[in-house]
Amino acid sequence: MLERDALIARLPKCELHIHIEGSLEPELMFELAARNGVQLPWPDVETLRRAYAFNSLQDFLDVYYVGMSVLVTERDFFDLAFAYLKRARADNVAHVEMFFDPQGHTVRGVSFATVVNGLHAACTKAREELGVGASLIMCFLRHLEEADAHATLDEALRHRDKIIGVGLDSSERGHPPEKFARVFRRAGDAGLNLFAHAGEEGPADYVWQALDVLGVKRVDHGNRALDDDVLVARLARERVPLTVCPLSNLRLKVVDDMRRHPLKRMMDKDLKVTVNSDDPAYFGGYINDNFRAVSSALDLSETEIVALARNSFSAAMMDEDERTTALARFEAVVRGG
Ligand code: HPA
Ligand code: ZN
Repeated sequence: MLERDALIARLPKCELHIHIEGSLEPELMFELAARNGVQLPWPDVETLRRAYAFNSLQDFLDVYYVGMSVLVTERDFFDLAFAYLKRARADNVAHVEMFFDPQGHTVRGVSFATVVNGLHAACTKAREELGVGASLIMCFLRHLEEADAHATLDEALRHRDKIIGVGLDSSERGHPPEKFARVFRRAGDAGLNLFAHAGEEGPADYVWQALDVLGVKRVDHGNRALDDDVLVARLARERVPLTVCPLSNLRLKVVDDMRRHPLKRMMDKDLKVTVNSDDPAYFGGYINDNFRAVSSALDLSETEIVALARNSFSAAMMDEDERTTALARFEAVVRGG
């Protein structure tokens, strides 16, 4: 193994941008389809994999929403999340904040409680049995109406103790953060942490809105922020973390070549960058695959790789005792050579 890859494998890290429905591997998708009597539009795993040729975020989302239709029971959600958490443990992930998309399920008649209880049970078991800290961030689907998001927040507040925050995902262009200003205000008033996808396909202005209109603490993706020097200076000064997803960017054609991925330029501009997998079952890799792909394409130094992993601990929503302990363990691994 290359020295760089061995370092990536060894470093503890947090994953802060993973859509749990995007960790649904084709084999599990077909198993759950059979379990639940759901008819998929693909005859087998090979045909499904051939459908993973995306030219845009929307191309991917069209497959993603069909794929998640096999998730029906609490046990399905548990199995999905626990499979991902075991895989994350193998990549030395110490702490996960996972997104989920309740509206992708409630629209099909699956109750909010079924979704959140299954996922939350997997997070609890991961903490106890795998030693991986795991928590849930509920995302609003931005292509749907604001009223729908309000109704989803009403449901979420009945499960307030199982969720650490809210996010904003799905089709970005034409659905600016400001569309969700009021529902984010309500979520913030309830003490939930606030996150949003911004600047993946949408313009730098959407990153401004995420910060100033929604009040987010962390920006998911944020690639297009680099179009605006004033915004970059703001993100650097305020140490706003960006959850960057290199293989996702490549597969959704946000970047045309990994050698031109903006991650190193972001780091050189003093942005707090983290590396994440987004939808690992669809984009060809889990978190360490993302670290390896971007480190190799951009020829990152060991110091840069360590900095990226260290950033994930300062960007995580841990309580301060937990963060101190996790960072001490991280620095010990770094010193261990
Ligand atoms: N972007 C926006 N919405 C999403 C994504 C993504 O990469 N994955 C799942 N929902
Ligand atoms: Zn995402």
